[in-house]
Amino acid sequence: MTGFSGASPPIRIAEMGLGDLPEVLEIEKASHVEPWDERFFREEFERPHSRLLVALKQATEVAGYICFWMVADEVQIFNLAVAPGERRRGVGRSLLLEALKIACRNKARLALLEVRRGNTAARRLYESVGFRPAGIRPGYYGVGREAAVLMELEMDRAWRSRWFAGSDPDPTEGVSWSLRHP
Ligand SMILES: CC(C)(COP(=O)(O)OP(=O)(O)OC[C@H]1O[C@@H](n2cnc3c(N)ncnc32)[C@H](O)[C@@H]1OP(=O)(O)O)[C@@H](O)C(=O)NCCC(=O)NCCS
Repeated sequence: MTGFSGASPPIRIAEMGLGDLPEVLEIEKASHVEPWDERFFREEFERPHSRLLVALKQATEVAGYICFWMVADEVQIFNLAVAPGERRRGVGRSLLLEALKIACRNKARLALLEVRRGNTAARRLYESVGFRPAGIRPGYYGVGREAAVLMELEMDRAWRSRWFAGSDPDPTEGVSWSLRHP
């Protein structure tokens, strides 16, 4: 689907397959207070509006993943994690931008997510691509009763040209687009 050379060695982003699940579940356990189990991921494979991408190192080794839903003109980010040993190399931002690019090309114009109030790394990542806090849900998470910060991003023309310059055809201009990588 997409390659980028910001990380060393280079990372390629592709659709997640069932064969990626063992590595994804290891990263999931190492990354979240309340990790998804295999059933959660399998359910996402079945939902027509859900997409799962992986960042692959050395062609096959999973360095991170993202899960997002595209509904009408919105994209909602539900899960994003990077293997502990691969963090701060641009993998998380690349996964996020790839998801947002796919969403833009499918006419999404608003991106939404929830993040633990104390999750500084994730909040900084989201802010770095333009997400802004839009509300607080006190006691939202089961473990620790931590608050969720709602964040949103309006992906207007100026934002799209900043992040996807030259590679973001406007769907209203009749450009055909395929979600599936070869
Ligand atoms: C949040 C997470 C996905 C970030 O992935 P990553 O690959 O390390 O992020 P990137 O290298 O792309 O970082 C992009 C930007 O995010 C911010 N950032 C990332 N990690 C950070 C940290 N530990 N502290 C402060 N800022 C951080 C920085 O602004 C960074 O840009 P910079 O490196 O140029 O300063 C990763 O830390 C992770 O998997 N955490 C556990 C799971 C999680 O919290 N997921 C999000 C749930 S909402």
